[in-house]
Amino acid sequence: MSEPILTVQDLHTHFFTDNKEVPAVDGVSIDLHKGEVVGIVGESGCGKSVTSLSIMQLVPNPPGKIVNGNIYFKGKNLTDASEKQMRKIRGNEISMIFQEPMTSLDPLFTIGNQLIEAIRIHQKVSKKQAKSSAIELLNLVGIPRASEVVDEFPHQLSGGMRQRVMIAMAMSCDPEVLIADEPTTALDVTIQAQILDLMRKLNKEKQTSILLITHDLGVVAEMCDRVVVMYSGKVVEEGTVREILKDPKHPYTKGLIRSLPNIKATDQKLYSIPGTVMRPSLDQVGCRFAPRCDYAFDRCWEENPELLEQDTGRQVRCFLYEKEIERGVPSNDRTYS
Ligand SMILES: Nc1ncnc2c1ncn2[C@@H]1O[C@H](COP(=O)(O)OP(=O)(O)OP(=O)(O)O)[C@@H](O)[C@H]1O
Ligand code: SF4
Ligand SMILES: [Mg+2]
Repeated sequence: MSEPILTVQDLHTHFFTDNKEVPAVDGVSIDLHKGEVVGIVGESGCGKSVTSLSIMQLVPNPPGKIVNGNIYFKGKNLTDASEKQMRKIRGNEISMIFQEPMTSLDPLFTIGNQLIEAIRIHQKVSKKQAKSSAIELLNLVGIPRASEVVDEFPHQLSGGMRQRVMIAMAMSCDPEVLIADEPTTALDVTIQAQILDLMRKLNKEKQTSILLITHDLGVVAEMCDRVVVMYSGKVVEEGTVREILKDPKHPYTKGLIRSLPNIKATDQKLYSIPGTVMRPSLDQVGCRFAPRCDYAFDRCWEENPELLEQDTGRQVRCFLYEKEIERGVPSNDRTYS
């Protein structure tokens, strides 16, 4: 495979609150190649948004700070980039759809003004032409009465409409990398399908690389080539979408897959992983998933498991997988599934 277009290397982003240092992102590494769609999944609070904000150099400081690690975009280390350089890259080469739409919409300007500005940064067109492209984009993301909405302000729109405007803005600049943080969660199913179609089109036709953060494993199955599973600030598993969905290895990933509704088994109660995700802490010893893990044994409470990698690129952070590698047990012949 070619060199990655975006590399997150051993990223540590911490928050400093109430005299405490919280390692919200604790040694995360992710590669994204040209034309690839990589999904990031994991429970609320596991560090997905902070990872993406770190890539964009938008972690609120204070209280947050990237304390270690590197982020390379086309070979350039973004952790060394000035704010001026980052402004050029953001919304231009790397675009982000934020989980909270108001983060990237300016309440003082109309939707049209904001879209027209974004379009004219990238295309040498007149204001009039840019306005009709803006209306076209709004139509494309399913905004009703687009020719009126273009002259309205963000507060005049519903949350779902704002989300779609933001998607239109992110797509308008033809980015090389699109980071989409829960882009469709607030939208109804029909619009969700349209937005996913648009993203797929962008990926196929323009080879846009996409980092897609989502809670929805159905979206992952439909969209992604590879999946990164995060738990409490760390990557606990990584593999191709097929590997993760068909043969999950980490007990947390297994729980995630088990909690997917099965349309064939209508009488079955939906499984949910017992307990809640632990807030990361610097003095924590042992595997972060241990309090919720059915397979935990003594060592899990005493040592932190490393991320183990197979030749194929498959990665798992679990002592059980270590045993599996030592024994050379094929993946379909495990005793603990
Ligand atoms: N501004 C902040 N100040 C303090 N702590 C923060 C801040 N933003 C995030 N955190 C902490 O960082 C951790 C990771 O948060 P993050 O927003 O990345 O979670 P997430 O995986 O995106 O969750 P969700 O699925 O709910 O969006 C959490 O423990 C959160 O409390
Ligand atoms: S290392 Fe231990 S506690 Fe952690 S996931 Fe594996 S078996 Fe469970
Ligand atoms: Mg988030």
